[in-house]
Amino acid sequence: MSNVSDSLRIEDVRREIAQLNSRSHDADQLMAGIIEILHAKMLKYNWVGFYMLEPGATPPTLVLGHFQGAMTPHTRIPLNQGICGAAASSGKTIVVDDVRSDPRYLACSLETKSEIVVPVFVHGNVVGELDIDSHFPAAFAFEDRELVEHCAQLVGRRLEQK
Ligand code: SME
Repeated sequence: MSNVSDSLRIEDVRREIAQLNSRSHDADQLMAGIIEILHAKMLKYNWVGFYMLEPGATPPTLVLGHFQGAMTPHTRIPLNQGICGAAASSGKTIVVDDVRSDPRYLACSLETKSEIVVPVFVHGNVVGELDIDSHFPAAFAFEDRELVEHCAQLVGRRLEQK
Protein backbone atom coordinates (compact mmCIF):
# COMPACT_ATOMS: atom_id res chain seq x y z
CA MET A 1 0.00 0.00 0.00
CA SER A 2 1.71 3.22 -1.00
CA ASN A 3 -0.64 5.83 -2.45
CA VAL A 4 -1.48 9.05 -0.65
CA SER A 5 -5.12 8.25 0.13
CA ASP A 6 -4.14 4.90 1.71
CA SER A 7 -1.58 6.73 3.89
CA LEU A 8 -4.16 9.34 4.94
CA ARG A 9 -6.62 6.58 5.80
CA ILE A 10 -4.01 4.90 7.99
CA GLU A 11 -3.31 8.25 9.72
CA ASP A 12 -7.04 8.66 10.43
CA VAL A 13 -7.28 5.14 11.75
CA ARG A 14 -4.26 5.69 14.01
CA ARG A 15 -5.96 8.80 15.43
CA GLU A 16 -9.16 6.84 16.07
CA ILE A 17 -7.21 4.03 17.72
CA ALA A 18 -5.41 6.56 19.97
CA GLN A 19 -8.77 8.03 21.05
CA LEU A 20 -10.14 4.55 21.65
CA ASN A 21 -7.08 3.68 23.74
CA SER A 22 -7.52 6.69 25.98
CA ARG A 23 -11.23 6.05 26.59
CA SER A 24 -11.02 2.24 27.02
CA HIS A 25 -11.27 1.03 30.60
CA ASP A 26 -9.61 -2.33 30.02
CA ALA A 27 -7.91 -4.57 27.45
CA ASP A 28 -11.17 -6.28 26.53
CA GLN A 29 -12.82 -2.99 25.58
CA LEU A 30 -9.69 -1.95 23.70
CA MET A 31 -9.61 -5.22 21.72
CA ALA A 32 -13.31 -4.96 20.81
CA GLY A 33 -12.81 -1.36 19.64
CA ILE A 34 -9.68 -2.16 17.59
CA ILE A 35 -11.57 -4.91 15.77
CA GLU A 36 -14.47 -2.58 15.06
CA ILE A 37 -12.31 0.28 13.75
CA LEU A 38 -10.00 -1.86 11.60
CA HIS A 39 -12.90 -3.80 10.07
CA ALA A 40 -14.99 -0.69 9.38
CA LYS A 41 -12.25 1.66 8.16
CA MET A 42 -9.61 -0.48 6.45
CA LEU A 43 -11.49 -1.52 3.33
CA LYS A 44 -9.32 -4.52 2.49
CA TYR A 45 -9.43 -5.93 6.04
CA ASN A 46 -12.33 -8.32 5.48
CA TRP A 47 -11.96 -10.47 8.60
CA VAL A 48 -10.35 -9.07 11.76
CA GLY A 49 -10.03 -10.98 15.02
CA PHE A 50 -8.01 -11.67 18.14
CA TYR A 51 -6.97 -15.17 19.14
CA MET A 52 -5.77 -15.46 22.73
CA LEU A 53 -3.82 -18.33 24.31
CA GLU A 54 -6.05 -20.29 26.66
CA PRO A 55 -4.49 -19.99 30.13
CA GLY A 56 -3.04 -23.31 31.30
CA ALA A 57 -4.23 -25.32 28.25
CA THR A 58 -2.21 -28.42 27.31
CA PRO A 59 -1.31 -28.42 24.48
CA PRO A 60 -1.24 -24.61 24.21
CA THR A 61 -4.28 -23.49 22.21
CA LEU A 62 -5.37 -20.21 20.62
CA VAL A 63 -9.02 -19.38 21.24
CA LEU A 64 -11.03 -16.96 19.10
CA GLY A 65 -11.89 -13.74 20.92
CA HIS A 66 -13.39 -10.53 19.55
CA PHE A 67 -13.76 -10.67 15.78
CA GLN A 68 -15.68 -9.13 12.89
CA GLY A 69 -16.35 -10.80 9.56
CA ALA A 70 -17.88 -14.15 8.65
CA MET A 71 -17.93 -16.87 11.29
CA THR A 72 -14.81 -19.04 11.05
CA PRO A 73 -14.64 -22.83 11.58
CA HIS A 74 -11.32 -22.21 13.39
CA THR A 75 -12.36 -21.12 16.87
CA ARG A 76 -9.56 -23.10 18.56
CA ILE A 77 -6.12 -23.46 16.93
CA PRO A 78 -3.24 -25.49 18.41
CA LEU A 79 0.18 -23.84 18.10
CA ASN A 80 1.38 -26.42 15.55
CA GLN A 81 -1.39 -25.52 13.11
CA GLY A 82 -2.06 -22.69 10.69
CA ILE A 83 -0.45 -19.35 10.11
CA CYS A 84 -1.95 -18.40 13.46
CA GLY A 85 -0.10 -21.20 15.24
CA ALA A 86 3.15 -20.31 13.44
CA ALA A 87 2.94 -16.63 14.46
CA ALA A 88 2.19 -17.45 18.10
CA SER A 89 4.89 -20.11 18.40
CA SER A 90 7.60 -18.04 16.66
CA GLY A 91 6.61 -14.70 18.24
CA LYS A 92 7.00 -13.12 14.79
CA THR A 93 4.63 -11.20 12.53
CA ILE A 94 3.67 -13.30 9.50
CA VAL A 95 2.45 -11.72 6.27
CA VAL A 96 1.20 -14.08 3.55
CA ASP A 97 0.59 -12.39 0.19
CA ASP A 98 -1.04 -15.48 -1.38
CA VAL A 99 -2.56 -17.90 1.11
CA ARG A 100 -2.89 -20.65 -1.54
CA SER A 101 0.90 -20.84 -1.78
CA ASP A 102 1.40 -21.31 1.98
CA PRO A 103 0.95 -24.94 3.11
CA ARG A 104 0.40 -23.80 6.72
CA TYR A 105 -2.77 -21.88 5.80
CA LEU A 106 -6.03 -23.00 7.47
CA ALA A 107 -8.91 -21.78 5.29
CA CYS A 108 -11.64 -19.70 6.88
CA SER A 109 -13.23 -18.39 3.72
CA LEU A 110 -12.78 -19.27 0.05
CA GLU A 111 -12.58 -15.54 -0.64
CA THR A 112 -9.45 -14.99 1.48
CA LYS A 113 -6.37 -14.22 -0.62
CA SER A 114 -3.87 -12.75 1.87
CA GLU A 115 -3.38 -12.66 5.65
CA ILE A 116 -1.36 -10.97 8.40
CA VAL A 117 -0.93 -12.33 11.92
CA VAL A 118 0.79 -10.22 14.63
CA PRO A 119 1.59 -11.64 18.08
CA VAL A 120 0.55 -9.82 21.27
CA PHE A 121 3.22 -9.84 23.99
CA VAL A 122 2.90 -9.41 27.75
CA HIS A 123 6.26 -8.96 29.51
CA GLY A 124 8.00 -10.57 26.52
CA ASN A 125 5.71 -13.61 26.30
CA VAL A 126 3.18 -14.27 23.54
CA VAL A 127 -0.35 -14.22 24.98
CA GLY A 128 -2.31 -14.04 21.75
CA GLU A 129 -2.42 -12.41 18.34
CA LEU A 130 -4.27 -10.10 15.98
CA ASP A 131 -5.25 -11.90 12.75
CA ILE A 132 -6.52 -10.16 9.60
CA ASP A 133 -7.68 -11.75 6.32
CA SER A 134 -8.22 -9.93 3.04
CA HIS A 135 -10.15 -10.81 -0.10
CA PHE A 136 -7.33 -9.07 -2.01
CA PRO A 137 -3.90 -10.60 -2.75
CA ALA A 138 -0.92 -8.92 -1.04
CA ALA A 139 -3.21 -6.54 0.86
CA PHE A 140 -0.75 -5.97 3.71
CA ALA A 141 2.05 -3.54 2.86
CA PHE A 142 4.67 -2.16 5.25
CA GLU A 143 2.32 0.59 6.55
CA ASP A 144 -0.37 -2.01 7.28
CA ARG A 145 2.12 -4.13 9.15
CA GLU A 146 3.12 -1.09 11.23
CA LEU A 147 -0.52 -0.29 11.97
CA VAL A 148 -1.43 -3.84 13.00
CA GLU A 149 1.74 -4.20 15.10
CA HIS A 150 0.92 -0.88 16.80
CA CYS A 151 -2.58 -2.19 17.69
CA ALA A 152 -1.12 -5.44 19.06
CA GLN A 153 1.40 -3.46 21.15
CA LEU A 154 -1.34 -1.29 22.67
CA VAL A 155 -3.22 -4.42 23.75
CA GLY A 156 -0.06 -5.98 25.20
CA ARG A 157 0.70 -2.81 27.20
CA ARG A 158 -2.86 -2.68 28.49
CA LEU A 159 -2.71 -6.33 29.56
CA GLU A 160 0.59 -5.62 31.38
CA GLN A 161 -1.19 -3.01 33.50
CA LYS A 162 -3.46 -5.65 35.07
N1 SME B 1 -6.11 -18.63 8.38
C1 SME B 1 -5.74 -18.85 9.75
C2 SME B 1 -6.89 -19.43 10.54
C3 SME B 1 -7.78 -18.40 11.15
S1 SME B 1 -8.84 -17.70 10.03
O1 SME B 1 -8.02 -16.90 9.09
C4 SME B 1 -9.88 -16.65 10.77
C5 SME B 1 -4.52 -19.75 9.83
O2 SME B 1 -4.04 -20.24 8.81
O3 SME B 1 -4.04 -20.00 10.94
